[in-house]
Amino acid sequence: MRHFLTLSDFDRDELREMIDLAIEIKAQLKSGRLVPYMQNKTLAMIFEKSSTRTRVSFETGIYQLGGTGLFLSSRDIQLGRGEPMKDTARVVSRMVDMVMIRTFEQSKLEEFAHYSRVPVINGLTDSYHPVQLMTDYMTMLEYGKENPTVAYVGDGNNMAHSWLYLAAIMGFELRVATPRGYECDPDITAKAMELARKYGGELIFGNDPREAVEGCDVVTTDTWVSMGQEEEKEKRIADFQGFMVDSELFSLAKDDAIFLHCLPAYRGYEVSEEIFERFADVIFTEAENRLHAQKGIMVWLDREALASQGESE
Ligand code: CP
Ligand code: NVA
Repeated sequence: MRHFLTLSDFDRDELREMIDLAIEIKAQLKSGRLVPYMQNKTLAMIFEKSSTRTRVSFETGIYQLGGTGLFLSSRDIQLGRGEPMKDTARVVSRMVDMVMIRTFEQSKLEEFAHYSRVPVINGLTDSYHPVQLMTDYMTMLEYGKENPTVAYVGDGNNMAHSWLYLAAIMGFELRVATPRGYECDPDITAKAMELARKYGGELIFGNDPREAVEGCDVVTTDTWVSMGQEEEKEKRIADFQGFMVDSELFSLAKDDAIFLHCLPAYRGYEVSEEIFERFADVIFTEAENRLHAQKGIMVWLDREALASQGESE
């Protein structure tokens, strides 16, 4: 049973297959065709954190694939009252065909997957946001950034970690600039470096946003205060001064460079109003691509699940 828990669960060809499916399914939709790749299938979506894009894109996505989505907030289901993750997994996965979870620790997601009879998709954890990075890769391709140099400026968080794996596996250059004390997790960095050696990606780490952005094709960032870190807000804002992507910083990138943001964006903090609005077309195409990229992932996982069922019969 294949799950989509981090990008490192897959090799380059597999990730490329999912992206190719996403591109094909997007083109079908744009020409008015809805192909029922997952007719009568149910996707359960468990949310322990807030969401706009992840919820709307997965729910719309499974519907457009011919299936149906179940929105399960931990505020409403027994998980929020202490029913164990492993019991939730064993119940839900006997009734549905696929599960997406947004939660805190990666270990909770792994525990769910361990007990699940159906494929599980990471809809964001404290450690990773892999569906967003598949979307960002698809968006970079659409904007002609086939083999980009990418600068990630900001917090060494779940987004940064998934950028590391994406760059390592797809084999492009990623420069990460974080404030001191907000570097990426050392174990994840080590794993990403190992993948980069295997696939030919280049990962560069530092604390200077200007050095990272100089001459790059894509600049990206993320909130300085992730979900679950609300109490650290004031300290973080103080510690991240000098890390806003504004016109001055962006001017160091190539003339045709683009700016990506996974959203939600906090203007005046990680990005200036001017840069955000200059790249609004790219950013909202990126947001829309969540719908298409995740369909590619779901269809790919569903095919794998069917194939593995066939093998075990
Ligand atoms: N980018 C992203 O995952 O957005 P949501 O938190 O709104 O789902
Ligand atoms: N790093 C952010 C991403 C939100 C999509 C968070 O975890 O809150």
